[in-house]
Amino acid sequence: MKKWLILIYTTLLLTACLPREEAAVEKPLPEPPPVKSAEEIKIGFSMDTLKEERWTKDLELFKEAAEQHGAEVVLEIADGDDVKQVWQTEKMISEGIDVLVVVPHNAESMAAIVERAHDAGIKVLSYDRLVRNAEVDLYVSYDNEQVGILQAQAMTKLVPKGKYVYLGGAETDYNAHLIKQGVFSVLKPYIESGEITVVFNQWTKDWLPQYAKENMEAALQANNDDIDAVIAGNDATAGGAIDALQANGLAGKIPVAGQDADLLGVRRIVEGTQTVTMYKSIDDLSQKAVELAIKLAIGEEIQEDLKINNGKINVPSVLLSPVLVDESTIRETVIADGFHLEKEVYAP
Ligand code: BGC
Repeated sequence: MKKWLILIYTTLLLTACLPREEAAVEKPLPEPPPVKSAEEIKIGFSMDTLKEERWTKDLELFKEAAEQHGAEVVLEIADGDDVKQVWQTEKMISEGIDVLVVVPHNAESMAAIVERAHDAGIKVLSYDRLVRNAEVDLYVSYDNEQVGILQAQAMTKLVPKGKYVYLGGAETDYNAHLIKQGVFSVLKPYIESGEITVVFNQWTKDWLPQYAKENMEAALQANNDDIDAVIAGNDATAGGAIDALQANGLAGKIPVAGQDADLLGVRRIVEGTQTVTMYKSIDDLSQKAVELAIKLAIGEEIQEDLKINNGKINVPSVLLSPVLVDESTIRETVIADGFHLEKEVYAP
């Protein structure tokens, strides 16, 4: 036999005889986190603000829903401050929560937090507002595009021709973009046919009524008060716009649309200075969010067919449907639901 052939045979023989255990020994897997029941869950709830009426309702009803499941809520309010919201959530993560529910003040700034939460094995639910460009686990909200569609449909029914003012929400809030998309999808054919002209179109910093008021004043001035309809991002901004109309003797003469069915908004509909608002049951939203947050925390699989792209991934999403409210439907919507009491609306 040739020398080189003997060498190959010997090598093969030796390899076959080598103990195999080494390859077969598996690395010990990290201990899986103990499976918790709903009663042991700590939900970190990071909110942007409590300044608007709706958010105080969100907080109250979210806590109630969590209590019903026996879960605990760890709360932080960022007061509209991005840096504060980031460090508050970092603190929650490091102090130990089982799931993070976040209402971002700024859709983009909270992306880093999603990563931080994931590094700690914590899932993230985007509540009402979508965190952009991050691997958010779940998004639970109202259909914001539909809010805009309903607003614009109501207004074009009343004012099919004329000059429109659009006062959007905060540019940093992705909801404001979705609502605007909805509004302009309805206005588009009217704009193209020349029946409607949007003579003013601005965002409203942090959704603050004083900026909406300033914008409305600027719109009136630039158009010699010749405005036919106003669509505002929400009831707070609609209120700011109506203050400006009031100061010019025009309140009640120009239709105004808002959203949230805030008590003040609904009262303005009764007095005739606001035309429509959009009702979004906060009870339904918070219950759904708590239920799903607990599922995320205990590692239950969530199957949501609806996916919304947030710039990075298609986020599994739950979108509830907003309801249009005008003067004729106040009783059958917000009052019937106990969102507001009849006496609060009609006999303040
Ligand atoms: C919410 C509105 C709210 C607004 C201002 C939006 O993201 O969807 O309901 O009025 O923020 O807080």
